[in-house]
Amino acid sequence: MEEEWEDGGFKRCIKFPLQQLKDEHVSLREEMNLFYEITEEIEFESGPAVIQEFTKLYEQISAFNGKLKAHSKKEDDWLFPMMTNHLGKNDKTIEVMEFEHEKAELHLQGFLIEAEQAGPAIDIDEAQAIAVYAVQAYATLIQHFDREEKVLFPLAEKILSAGEKEELERRFRAR
Ligand SMILES: [Fe+2]
Ligand SMILES: [Fe+2]
Repeated sequence: MEEEWEDGGFKRCIKFPLQQLKDEHVSLREEMNLFYEITEEIEFESGPAVIQEFTKLYEQISAFNGKLKAHSKKEDDWLFPMMTNHLGKNDKTIEVMEFEHEKAELHLQGFLIEAEQAGPAIDIDEAQAIAVYAVQAYATLIQHFDREEKVLFPLAEKILSAGEKEELERRFRAR
């Protein structure tokens, strides 16, 4: 049975839940590469072009932030607690993942808040300084996605039961 539905801007069809998270990384990475390119323009351009690029960056980051939240929420609310049940008390794997979520969110929030405070009268120096938050979010998330794909998802594959994976799938769908 094939079925499609919309979920936080992602096109969905029935899939294993871990594969679904990996697929979301693909589309999130594409957007990250786009906004990273803009940050490079901002850093190396001069004059009014910087402000134009900054406006573009603001739009991209706003849209990306919502999409990332929808993705991370699935991990924070369902995958991580399920895995914690299987891991020893001293295992720090999930803590590290949660910390990286917070770090990425702080960088993105920092960007959005300061960009809004600066408003349309923003000058070149300010725009270049605020864009650094986007670079930091990019660096955090590249590393985070990589760690999830190389360490976390294979671990989940191993420790979660078939029943738990089915439950994850249901939870992701019900959102
Ligand atoms: Fe994550
Ligand atoms: Fe993820």
